Amino acid sequence: MGSVIVGTGMSVPDRVVGNDDLAAVMDTSDRWIATRSGVRERRVAEPGVGASHLGAAAAAAALADAGLDAGAVDLLVTATMTPDFLAPGMAPLIQDRLGLGRVPSFDLRAQCSGFLYALDLADGYLQAERAGTALVVGAEVHSGFMPWSAQLASGAAPDPAGWDRNTRHRGWGVLFGDGAGAMVVKAGRDPAVGYLGGRLWTDGSLFELIHVPGVGFRHQPYVDQAQLEGEDHLPVMQGRELYRQAVRLMPEAVRQVLAEHGLGLEDLDVVVAHQANDRITEGVRRALGVDADVVPSNIGRYGNTTAATLPILYHELRSAGRVPPGGLVCFTAFGAGAHWGAALYREPGDRT
Ligand code: ACO
Repeated sequence: MGSVIVGTGMSVPDRVVGNDDLAAVMDTSDRWIATRSGVRERRVAEPGVGASHLGAAAAAAALADAGLDAGAVDLLVTATMTPDFLAPGMAPLIQDRLGLGRVPSFDLRAQCSGFLYALDLADGYLQAERAGTALVVGAEVHSGFMPWSAQLASGAAPDPAGWDRNTRHRGWGVLFGDGAGAMVVKAGRDPAVGYLGGRLWTDGSLFELIHVPGVGFRHQPYVDQAQLEGEDHLPVMQGRELYRQAVRLMPEAVRQVLAEHGLGLEDLDVVVAHQANDRITEGVRRALGVDADVVPSNIGRYGNTTAATLPILYHELRSAGRVPPGGLVCFTAFGAGAHWGAALYREPGDRT
């Protein structure tokens, strides 16, 4: 019986950082960022605001949308690569803040594919009748990674060393933003409606495409001055190879999951694709032979919010009436790990 999404919500910080703001603290330009990535602005959390705060706000909005109280939830699955603390994860913080009661609550680490994995796992719990109502949350505060965040917050112009550091990391430092999205998912009764099924893949041999080399427990001590001075606490990205893999593997995943359900591209109403980069989204459109109506994008306003892109984009499309009753939605993502996959979802309601 396909699990049904009965509520959605999102939360982003109020603070907007445009490309010109970044051009004031590093050698970059609105033109470079917009043409290479599609990002025009991103939201940035104030210091002290963590992914759990945004995640809890998105989850509360999703519960309100579903018309449910916190007491109705019996499973919380969250996805983030930027938890408030190294330990514990984000889920217990959200569980406590929302007053969910002592329901099983845990983080899942699959970066840009985190929400896809979390939704698939929640569906498994619901199918197995180990839960009746699941809350699935993707939330990120990437600002802590950004070499430029403290500088922008202070309002002061960077010194030459700060300018050089920001510029050294400009390849990835302009792409990301903060935000959260959530869904309330309930066990369904009709196998033809709701979550029809997902396919998930991992290829760990690709882990170096984007990873954070330092501040991990293979180091003793796990963090030290040498790692910080070597900037090993910041992401390292092989942008071109990431692009090549993403534009190949997401369309392959979409085609495969469709084929496994006896469906074709012509049956799709909307593809909710991970928002890593508009060039990647455009590559997915090209590979599938569809346009931006079918594979929409909102990266211009938020940047890449990693585990939050799928629920934020789906929430916006659903709120704008862009997912028709009875329509077929395909969620797809590719990201660090490498993890990727696709899942099909049939909207409840008759097509009229
Ligand atoms: N502003 C100005 N110039 C820049 C910037 C910037 N922000 N970043 C890099 N450049 C410069 C480089 O220094 C380089 O200069 P050089 O030729 O003088 O050496 C030049 O631009 C080209 O750099 P490349 O890294 O080769 O640029 P490329 O054309 O590959 O574009 C990009 C970089 C946009 C990251 C591209 O590789 C891409 O789209 N990759 C996909 C990766 C991605 O989107 N990752 C998101 C996170 S991962 C995920 O979510 C799956």
